[in-house]
Amino acid sequence: MALRKYAGYAWNLISLVGMILAVTATSLIIGFLSYEGITGVEKPYLGLMTYFLFPGMLIVGLLLVPLGAYIVREKRRRHPEEKIEPFPKVDFNDAHKRHLFIFFVVASIGFVLIVSVASLKGYEFTESTTFCGELCHKVMEPEHVAWANSPHAKVKCVECHVGPGAAWYVKAKISGMRQLYAVAFHTYPETIQTPIDNLRPARDTCEHCHWPEKFYAGRQKVFYHYAPNEENTPREINMLINIGGTPKSQHNKGIHWHIGQEVRYIATDRQRLDIPYIAVKEKDGSITEYFNTEKPLSKADVAKAEKRVMDCLDCHNRPAHIYRSPGVEMDEALAAKRIDIALPYLKKTAVEILTRPYKNKEEATATIAKDLPEYYAKNYPNVSKQKTKEIAHAVTVVQDIYTRNFFPAMKVSWNTYPNHIGHFYTPGCFRCHDGKHKTAAGKVISKDCNMCHTVLSQKQENILEGSKHSEFVHPVDIGDELYKANCSDCHSAGGQDVPGGEHHAKK
Ligand code: HEC
Ligand code: HEC
Ligand code: HEC
Ligand code: HEC
Ligand code: HEC
Ligand code: HEC
Repeated sequence: MALRKYAGYAWNLISLVGMILAVTATSLIIGFLSYEGITGVEKPYLGLMTYFLFPGMLIVGLLLVPLGAYIVREKRRRHPEEKIEPFPKVDFNDAHKRHLFIFFVVASIGFVLIVSVASLKGYEFTESTTFCGELCHKVMEPEHVAWANSPHAKVKCVECHVGPGAAWYVKAKISGMRQLYAVAFHTYPETIQTPIDNLRPARDTCEHCHWPEKFYAGRQKVFYHYAPNEENTPREINMLINIGGTPKSQHNKGIHWHIGQEVRYIATDRQRLDIPYIAVKEKDGSITEYFNTEKPLSKADVAKAEKRVMDCLDCHNRPAHIYRSPGVEMDEALAAKRIDIALPYLKKTAVEILTRPYKNKEEATATIAKDLPEYYAKNYPNVSKQKTKEIAHAVTVVQDIYTRNFFPAMKVSWNTYPNHIGHFYTPGCFRCHDGKHKTAAGKVISKDCNMCHTVLSQKQENILEGSKHSEFVHPVDIGDELYKANCSDCHSAGGQDVPGGEHHAKK
């Protein structure tokens, strides 16, 4: 009778289901946690189950057990023969009750431990790049791939997209929830639009690691290129980039001048490529206003429009998600000797194949594998025979370039998101520094080629070895278009196949 009275309450279907759920969930959590601990492998869907689904199952299970018992007890209590009091009596002199109580305490501690470990790991997990980059694999693939190939590959997504503090965590997770929903029900726009609206202010996140007051005055950088000719002739532009710091640092002139000063501007498009108005707050508090002389805004337009204060992201808008043009990728592969420079017209041919439109990745990789060897078989039969291995290797390198910079499934390719840092493929700095933005008094935002950088030396087919040039020499003579036009007017295609570039006739 006593046994039935106490243990018996839990002997019902609801409690039994609860117990099975709890025991299964506990063993799954322990199992997967130790699998992850031993192998060090983090799998996104496994993580989602281990940190959220199974702990949920455990809690539901543990609630079902007393619920079932309570229902049974209430039912029996209503039976006139059973004399059961409204509340159970806790009597530690009763060995059975004492054991039951000890079991209850031990089980509770174990339960609290498991759930806390799981939720701590769960928090960590939602902060991981696995969660951000792989869980919604298709949607985030371009960003994840480009990030993994950037100087910030060791910086977690959340350090830029969320940053420290509970408020931004909650904000980001709520918008993350919306995105998860959008992915599940395909309501997301095909290509993610930038600039993203809910990004934390750049100075909060970037300055967590980078301190503008301590930037170097200058940074030497060599730009490697290879001519689209038979020899893939190397070209080198060795420049000193005038980085500079903020007004509080020792070197307060130079590129980072903009972040010490309050610079506001109006953009007429979402990508902020068209900037007709800029206002600078000078040290004495006065405002200097620059207008694009080709499309002047009226006073009323200026008063009405939203003005953005310039920060890191107005130049470094692609610090982590950097896509490179086929031309730049081929230059880097050649500079790093990942491909054989002795293959005639390799740069020109590969860039030409990469810039064709493809429906999907499979079509692109198949075409590369077919067309590159065919080009050599047809035009250079000897090279084709002697360098079969090198050509096959070039195929894998070119395929890799495609998969890192073209994502047809998300309609993203290397030039979907303009990078504002320079002025070669996109207007970048020349959005303002184009020589066309002036004050009423005639002061111009300078386009002087030696203001932002100085050419230290340059190697090129049209430069005599040993001769000195203080200015950049363009590889083909384009006259004063070099200074008048924007480089991106001709170079936005991404390879060397710019108008007028056809003089390098294909063999
Ligand atoms: C160093 C900082 C940084 C890190 C690390 C970083 N991002 Fe970003 N991300 C940015 C910035 C800045 C933008 C906004 C770009 C713009 O406005 O043009 C952005 C934009 C995006 C976008 C919008 C689409 C696009 O390409 O502009 C997505 C999606 C994204 N990031 C996902 C991720 C994921 C996933 C990770 C981790 C694998 C990650 N980010 C890591 C800085 C970062
Ligand atoms: C968690 C720390 C961290 C955060 C946050 C961070 N960075 Fe960085 N960043 C780094 C590190 C580390 C490097 C150096 C990588 C190297 O040189 O190997 C770096 C490198 C850079 C570089 C030099 C890249 C190059 O080509 O040499 C730039 C520019 C930069 N970061 C801009 C930004 C901007 C803009 C943001 C904010 C959106 C940002 N960083 C946020 C850690 C961070
Ligand atoms: C007016 C545009 C502009 C703004 C605004 C700007 N930067 Fe830069 N920054 C540059 C350029 C250009 C370079 C040099 C790039 C290169 O060498 O390729 C640079 C270089 C850097 C570097 C690399 C320095 C080195 O020694 O290698 C870091 C880090 C950096 N910026 C961080 C920041 C941070 C953080 C902010 C915001 C507080 C910021 N920048 C704002 C244009 C800008
Ligand atoms: C939104 C407009 C805008 C953009 C974009 C912009 N600048 Fe500027 N920049 C200005 C203005 C305005 C001045 C101040 C002109 C003056 O006072 O003569 C300036 C001044 C400068 C100076 C001179 C600072 C000094 O020492 O006095 C440098 C160097 C410079 N910019 C570099 C860059 C680089 C590099 C980029 C691109 C990465 C860039 N700027 C993008 C608006 C812009
Ligand atoms: C407002 C600042 C600014 C002005 C003015 C400017 N540049 Fe630049 N330029 C840059 C920056 C910043 C980079 C580096 C971009 C990077 O690191 O990728 C650059 C890069 C370059 C490169 C190397 C491009 C490559 O990828 O090989 C050349 C060549 C160049 N500039 C030539 C010129 C010439 C010619 C002029 C004058 C018509 C000029 N620049 C005016 C800021 C400027
Ligand atoms: C009128 C069109 C035009 C303008 C404007 C122009 N370019 Fe070019 N650029 C060309 C042509 C054509 C080539 C030749 C292709 C070749 O031989 O690589 C070229 C090649 C180059 C190359 C060599 C690329 C490589 O992969 O080897 C560099 C670097 C370059 N231009 C820089 C600039 C810069 C910087 C500016 C702006 C200040 C600029 N160009 C403006 C047409 C132009």
